[in-house]
Parts: sequence; structure tokens; C-alpha cells
Amino acid sequence: MRSLIDILELSTAELDKLIATADDIIANPEKYAHKCAGKKLATLFFEPSTRTRLSFEAAMYELGGNVLGFSEAQSSSAAKGESVADTAKTVSCYADIIAMRHPKEGAPLVASMNASIPVINAGDGGHNHPTQTLADLLTIHREKGHFDNLTVGLCGDLKFGRTVHSLIAALRRYNNVKFVFISPNELKIPDYVKDSLKKEGIEYSETTDLEAAMPCLDILYMTRVQRERFFNEEEYLRLKDSYILTPEKLLGAKADMKILHPLPRVNEISVAIDNDPRACYFKQVLYGKYMRMALILMLLEVE
Ligand code: NCD
Repeated sequence: MRSLIDILELSTAELDKLIATADDIIANPEKYAHKCAGKKLATLFFEPSTRTRLSFEAAMYELGGNVLGFSEAQSSSAAKGESVADTAKTVSCYADIIAMRHPKEGAPLVASMNASIPVINAGDGGHNHPTQTLADLLTIHREKGHFDNLTVGLCGDLKFGRTVHSLIAALRRYNNVKFVFISPNELKIPDYVKDSLKKEGIEYSETTDLEAAMPCLDILYMTRVQRERFFNEEEYLRLKDSYILTPEKLLGAKADMKILHPLPRVNEISVAIDNDPRACYFKQVLYGKYMRMALILMLLEVE
């Protein structure tokens, strides 16, 4: 039995297989409509979510399965002081697979060590968010056709943005991927990420200037400033509008650059960009559902 806590647990061959399965689901949805009949997914969300929770639920329904769960800690026994380990043991009696989001880093790992069914990390604190990365990878693959030789700009809150940390971990395994980290000084990419890139000889640069970085980018991954992870509201207010992508700022961009955002958007991307052919963030939402379907099939070992 296998869980997914960190994107690095998937080999490159497995990522390729998930992408191939998602492509096949998109082409032949009817083939998959009953694959999970009789199976149940439990969504245990201790932190707010629109896309990730509904995406998991839609994924399971489209596989013919069922869904149970909760969408806030206050409506679960966590409010009475139950441990994540006990919740995981309990839910193992009711469901076949768990998707868990938690504000504490490592909580889904603890759940996976105590559950008797697979656990998927649906975001743990500022740490990891592997299924968002699956959505990001399918988007890049469908839009660009490959991962090798891409220059990927990541912009915004690179300190607390868990989707950023997981995406870098996945992309750095491909050939000649270069990273450009664009953030205010206060929200720079953590040192442990840079150290691991240095160790592997992967090229990266850091800047505060989005427009200066724009011309070299093949992918621009925008993120929101993660308000809920700040200790100080004043600091959040000072930094929240550090980058706002507008049509003027795109003037220097490549015609085939792709703009991604894990969403929710606050105001990092002007709505004037939504109809630009380079904007992929709503397609990315849809692709996330297909990758979650592929992942559920893999972890439940459904042929
Ligand atoms: C992201 C998350 O939860 O980390 N959202 C998502 O799952 N699509 C990004 C964010 O909240 O900013």
C-alpha cells in the first residue's frame, strides 16, 4: 500500500505514466467512469480549500466512486482534541483512500503512518502540495509538449508557497530546466531549496524585478502572498501587492510563454489577462482533476 506525501516519492517514469493516464482520461472519459465503483474517498480538510477538495471529489465521482469527509477542522473531532493519528485510524474503517489538507507541516505524513489505507497530502502548511504539482506538470506538458530546456519563472511568495516548493522538486529532475526566482526580499525561496539546486548543479537566479526577468521565461508561475502563514498582518499588507501582472508587464514576454497560477488569485494577475492565449490558470484547474483521477487509480491499484 502506498501513499503520496511528497512529489519526490514518484519516479520520473511514474510521473510520465500519470500524465499518460490523464491524457487518456481526457480522450476517453467513458473508459474510466466506473473504475472506482464501490470505493470511497475521504476528504479530511483542516484548512480552507475550494479547488483541491472539490477537485478530489469530482475526480472520485468521475471514476464512479463515492466521497465522504469534512471541510473544516471545527466540524471534526480535532476540535475536541483528537490527534491526526487517531483520525487516520478511524477514517481507515470507513474509506479506501484519504486526501488530507492540514495547516501543520508533516500532518499527512503522520496520518499515512497510522492509516491502513493510502493517504494523499493535499497541502501541509508551507511545506508541500504534490497534487497541485501534478496539475502544474500536466498543464506544462499539454501546453509545451515537454519539460526539458524550459526556463521557469516563479513569482510572488516563494517562502511560504508550498506549491512552489513541490513544483521545483519535480521539475529539477528534467534536463536543463532553469529557474528564475522573483520575489520581494522578505519572501525569498528558502535556503534549503537553493542548496539542493546548487548541489545538483541546476542553474537558477534570484531577482526582485519581474519585468526584467520576463523576456527569458517559457513559464511564468504566479503565486499569491500566503496571508495565513504571516505572523504579522502589517507585514502582509506591505507585501501583498508586490507583483501584479498586467498586460503592460507582458509586453516583453515571449509569445508562447505560458502563465500558470495555482489559484486562488487575490490580485497578482489582472483579470485583463484572463483572455490572453498565454493564460493557462483555469485550464490548470481542469487538468488538476484529471491528474487526481490518475493518482487515485494508481494508489488504489486499479487497472
Ligand atoms: C494553493 C495552496 O493551497 O497551497 N492552492 C491550491 O491548492 N490550488 C495555493 C494557495 O493557496 O495560494
